[in-house]
Amino acid sequence: MFRTSVRDPHNQAVTGGRRAGGGGQRMKEHATAGMRTQVGIVGAGPAGLLLSHLLALRGIDSVVVEIRSRAYCEARQRAGVLEDGTVRLLREAGLADRLDREGLEHGGIHLQFAGERHHLDFRDLAGGRTVTVYAQTEVVRDLIARRLADGAALEFEVSGTAVAGLDTDTPLLSYTAADGSRREVTCDVIAGCDGFHGICRPAIPDRLRTVWERDYPYAWLGILAEAPPATDELIYAHHPDGFALHSMRSMQVSKLYLQVDPDARAEDWPQARIWEALQRRFALPGWAVREGPALDVAITPMRSFVSTPMRYGRLFLAGDAAHIVPPTGAKGLNLAIADVAVLADALSGLLLRGDHRLADGYSDTCLSRVWRSTHFSWWMTTMLHRTPGADPMEAALQLSQLRYVTSSRAASVTLAENYVGYPPLR
Ligand code: FAD
Ligand code: PHB
Repeated sequence: MFRTSVRDPHNQAVTGGRRAGGGGQRMKEHATAGMRTQVGIVGAGPAGLLLSHLLALRGIDSVVVEIRSRAYCEARQRAGVLEDGTVRLLREAGLADRLDREGLEHGGIHLQFAGERHHLDFRDLAGGRTVTVYAQTEVVRDLIARRLADGAALEFEVSGTAVAGLDTDTPLLSYTAADGSRREVTCDVIAGCDGFHGICRPAIPDRLRTVWERDYPYAWLGILAEAPPATDELIYAHHPDGFALHSMRSMQVSKLYLQVDPDARAEDWPQARIWEALQRRFALPGWAVREGPALDVAITPMRSFVSTPMRYGRLFLAGDAAHIVPPTGAKGLNLAIADVAVLADALSGLLLRGDHRLADGYSDTCLSRVWRSTHFSWWMTTMLHRTPGADPMEAALQLSQLRYVTSSRAASVTLAENYVGYPPLR
């Protein structure tokens, strides 16, 4: 079974092997079969890309493989809010030049219900901590640009990704490269950063895994619109028709969400219907959502999912590969980043010093944060959404909870400290 072995990457490197920060091209030229790296990373989402960068900073080399194209990864519309710990981590990793220029720091959110809008001031409630609106697309663009500039082995448009030998000291990552050649990379460790539908989590034997899962009876329709936000900070709205969220991407572009039926299709929601629903759910005297042409419309299912443990032998799962939260509360991307921050330290212990203590604690360390975010996202979701077919008591209980959260300091501190990130990252 699993044994720790420390490898000198210089001695171990065979065809195309390389140290971090240089020689990425060399790997490509020699890449036919029998390559060697320290960490094979499956998936170039935020988790896989950031892990490969954090490892490079520690002198650990990696190969990242991604089934999609670079353009697809950079355009995929997803999350928008970064916790303060996430921002600090990106800054410390030298990845925040554009984030610091273009990110919008938000010191709170608005909660709207029963025709009233209440502001929660995070600076006051969460010890001066804030969040930053900076889209996942931008985080991914920054990471890809930096990894490629640093000469990383980052392969897009691969197919047939497979992992094997996970309970040995030399797990194997294999895939077909974009040019059609089959590659095999012998690794010290494989990081499964391949999202919810990836191949790494299913590579852990079922008998060793425990899964917690909850599907919600609604979905989110998200619209990215060329319209200046009508609000300074995000608005989370409870409404008899269903939840709505007003977010943004910049001072020119708004991102808005509507609770819709779980089986809704984008064709059911022409733009006029979307704007009408948004205006109704956010209605306040003298205030209106600013409308504009849609740049993107997409429907996302809502699910809570946790699979444990997050490690099997030499395979470590990170991000959506191990857990999913509903987006209410903006935790998914932040959790993925927190996982790889822990993983980078654990792998430096394991691969550079032969110290497996952090690696052995990896799953439990991450799961403590994962469960806190899973609870927070579930709590925000069930407080703010209308459950189809629910009795009238549900709305009465939700409104009571919303009044409590906006009137009690203890309750508003609870929301604020979870929203900005609990526990604070580092
Ligand atoms: P991903 O971003 O999913 O990256 C995984 C990568 O692995 C992908 O690029 C994928 O193509 C690649 N991959 C998969 N299989 C393979 C394979 N076999 N071989 C190689 N590569 C593979 N979170 C929020 O906080 N707020 C939101 O509003 C929000 N909206 C979301 C909307 C959608 C539609 C989805 C799916 C998620 C949303 N999330 C949101 C969650 C957030 O985007 C994720 O938590 C975050 O992307 C997790 O990052 P990751 O790197 O773990 O996974
Ligand atoms: C977003 O801007 O996409 C966003 C913001 C807050 C959330 C979810 C999504 O809770």
